[in-house]
Order: sequence, then C-alpha cells, then structure tokens
Amino acid sequence: MSSRDAELLISVDRNGPASMQAQLERQLRDAIRGGMLRPGSEVPSTRDLARDLAISRPLVMEAHAQLAAEGYLALRQGAAPRVADTAPRQQIQDLPPESVLTLTFRYDFRPGIPDLASFPSARWLKAAEAALRIMAPNDFGYGQRYGVLPLRQALADYLGRVRGVSADPRQILITSGFEQTRALMARTLKRRGVTELAVEDPGYSDREVWLAAGLKLLPIAVDENGIDVAALAKSPAQAVLLTPAHQSPTGVVMSGERRLALANWLRQRNAIALEDDYDAEFRYDRAPIGALQGLAPDHVVYAGTTSKTLGPALRLGWMVAPSDLLLAFEDEMRLMDCGRGRLEQFTLAQFITSGDYDRHLRKMRALYRDRREALLAVITDELPEVKISGISAGLHANVRFPRRLDEAVISEAANKRGMGLSFLRGHYLDDAPEESTLLLSYASMPESSLRTALRTLAAIIAGN
Ligand SMILES: Cc1ncc(COP(=O)(O)O)c(C=O)c1O
Repeated sequence: MSSRDAELLISVDRNGPASMQAQLERQLRDAIRGGMLRPGSEVPSTRDLARDLAISRPLVMEAHAQLAAEGYLALRQGAAPRVADTAPRQQIQDLPPESVLTLTFRYDFRPGIPDLASFPSARWLKAAEAALRIMAPNDFGYGQRYGVLPLRQALADYLGRVRGVSADPRQILITSGFEQTRALMARTLKRRGVTELAVEDPGYSDREVWLAAGLKLLPIAVDENGIDVAALAKSPAQAVLLTPAHQSPTGVVMSGERRLALANWLRQRNAIALEDDYDAEFRYDRAPIGALQGLAPDHVVYAGTTSKTLGPALRLGWMVAPSDLLLAFEDEMRLMDCGRGRLEQFTLAQFITSGDYDRHLRKMRALYRDRREALLAVITDELPEVKISGISAGLHANVRFPRRLDEAVISEAANKRGMGLSFLRGHYLDDAPEESTLLLSYASMPESSLRTALRTLAAIIAGN
C-alpha cells in the first residue's frame, strides 16, 4: 500500500524495498536538488506530512533531522521547516539531456500528460495475473508480430462500441503508441509516392518525423468547426493528419458537416487521412462523437493510444489500417522490429474484456470533470479578462488573453516558481494570432494545487 502528499507529489510505499524514512528523505532531497522546493521555501510541517502520508511523526522528524544534517533543511524551534538558503542544487546544464526533457514541475500546466497518480495499479496487476494464467508456452516466443489476437479482438469490439470504428481484428495493428503509427505512416506514404501532407495549423508540434521521411507539410487553418476542408481541397495535398475528436491543441471538436465534407474530399481525391484519436475518451458535455474512420474506412488510418487513458509509460497503442494499406503497414512494421511486448498486450486485453478499462475511464472522466470545473471557477476569479475555449473534451483548456503577453519572460518566471507553461504560439506553422493563448492542463492537479498555481500565475502575468 502507498500513500502520498498531493501538494508535494511525495509518496511512500509501505511494501517498498527502502524504509519509509529513506523514501521520504530521498524524495525531499530530490525535490530540493531539482529545484521544485526552492531555498527559503517552507516544507510541510512534520504534523502535516505525517498526516498526509499516514506515517508516524517521529519518523518524519528523523527524516527532517537527517536532511538538516546534510545541509538541505533549516530547522528552528517553533518555526516551520524551510529549505536552507545554501541547499545544494543540481544545475540544469549538469543534467544529461534526457533529464532535461523529462523535467518535472510542481505545478505542471503543460498539456499531454494524464493524472499519473491514478494509474490503476491493483487492477492492472490483476489483469497481468489473469494474462499469465492464459498465456500458452508459444505466447512467450516470437510471433504475433503485429499484435496478439486477444487484444486485437478486444480492441475491435471496444473501438466499434465506443468510437464507432469499423474494423476486423486483422486490420488492427498493435503499436507502441501514436508516435510509432506516425513513423509507419510517414514511411508508407513516402513509399506510395505521396509528397505533400496537409496538417492542422495550429497542430501537434512534433513534425520532424514527417520532414525526415521527405514529406512537405502544408499548413491548413483550423477554425471553430475544425480543419478548413475548403482550403484543404484547394491544396495539392494527397494526405492529411488530423485530430477530429479534440483538435490538438485548440480543443475544437470537428463539426458533423466538416466531417462529411472531409470524407467526400478523401474519396474524391483518393487521399488518406491519419486520424489521431489521442484523448477522445474524455468528452464532458455529451457522448463522444464517433471517429472519422467510421465515415470513410477505406481512406482513414485510425490511431489510438493508452497514453492519455492509462499512462504514456505503457507505450501501447493501436492503428486500424484500411485493407489496401494493411500489407504496406505490415511490411514497414516487419522492417522496424519484432513487435510490442506480449505480456503487456495480453494484460491490456484482459483489462478491456473484464470491464476494468471502461470502469477506469468512467472514474477518470468524473475526476477530470471535477478538475475542469475547478479550473474554470478559479480562472474566472483570478484571470477575469481571458476567454476560455476547447473545454468540451480532453484534458486542457485554451485560455486567450486580450493582448500579447511577454510569453518568454512569463514562462521563465513560472519555471522559476516550479510551474510548467505552454503557449499556443509555438504550435503554428503559419503566423499565429497577435493575442496570447495559454494551454492549461487540469489533468494532474487537485483543486487545492490548481488554486495556488493559478493565483501565482495571475501574479506573474500582472507583474509583466
Ligand atoms: C495530439 C497527440 N497525439 C499523440 C500523442 C502521443 O501519443 P503516444 O504517447 O501514443 O505516442 C500526444 C502526446 O502528448 C498528443 O498530444
């Protein structure tokens, strides 16, 4: 069993290999060294930490005393413990690049990551046990390179039921997430002689894979109904990448009319769409609109992932390929590697067929709905001048200011206070609008943290 302090993101695992005191010391030390707790800032009292983590107070006192002896904490009788002014800190330039990429913030508003603390460990373990019981000796060998059959069957049923995707299990290939689907798509398009790919503008920002495959990107504007299909039709594009259920990053849900127009364009141009259905499970005002794939299954490559529903660390996703592209995708996959881990695939199949996936999604939808409501309420109080959009689905809000902010200065000031920020401007290929828009994820912050973080953010913006 483990318990955690939500504010500090510290947790202790009673059954972990290290003692609870050692776990607490290490996490506090890391938080100070990593800059999440800054010199002079207050550390939760022994009483609060003991209560939040459900551990004994003397144990917390011992951990504090040890960190004081190491020079990290300053303890004074009757005063709250503070981070020592001279506490050793790790310099970002000293860290290897991977650590910089995965830099964590105490308050992280950057979109893309679900609430990792909600990973359903106990139920996942149950599914893994069930998977191990049904796996035959052959399942531990090579083979089933494109995905194990029970998972492809479970997904065919799930995607049909929840996303309106029409697919035979054979058309479903198991990937290590959208990023692999994208790499496979880039190579397959290139092999078919496609040279120009339309992308939503603004759009999902990592474009290197397409460029590396030699594809030219054609930015197509997005308005409140989704991608501008009339502009797409005027372009020479032979393929398009899009996020109809919840446009990334504006949050727009593509209208029914646009979907029909797009499906017609795909048929007329004999073009291919890659539908990135990355977080469609989270729709708050109504049942999610079905996938575009259901309207034009012969022209849409559908991509799904567990990265938002469970966690990016699983590296488990799927693609549904139109039948005339299936062999091309299988070829590319074969050239790449030997497929995803079978145990995780059997586990996910169990997790879905037992109903635990739906149960988990129901729980997460309620949690995110509450956090979204909290975000909206606090924004109204703290940032009354902004306009909010893109919140009917997904895990983040677009917060538009009536003027241009000094985005670099604000981001830097926020980082210094342990806060990660992301502005919309960086997601445009063409010119971005003059006004600033912040992308605020509410996925991983409980209401109390949201309030503190937004108050700090409002103060930073007011001061710049
Ligand atoms: C729009 C969008 N698509 C895809 C992904 C990546 O998905 P995966 O982890 O499955 O590669 C992300 C990750 O943040 C995303 O924001």
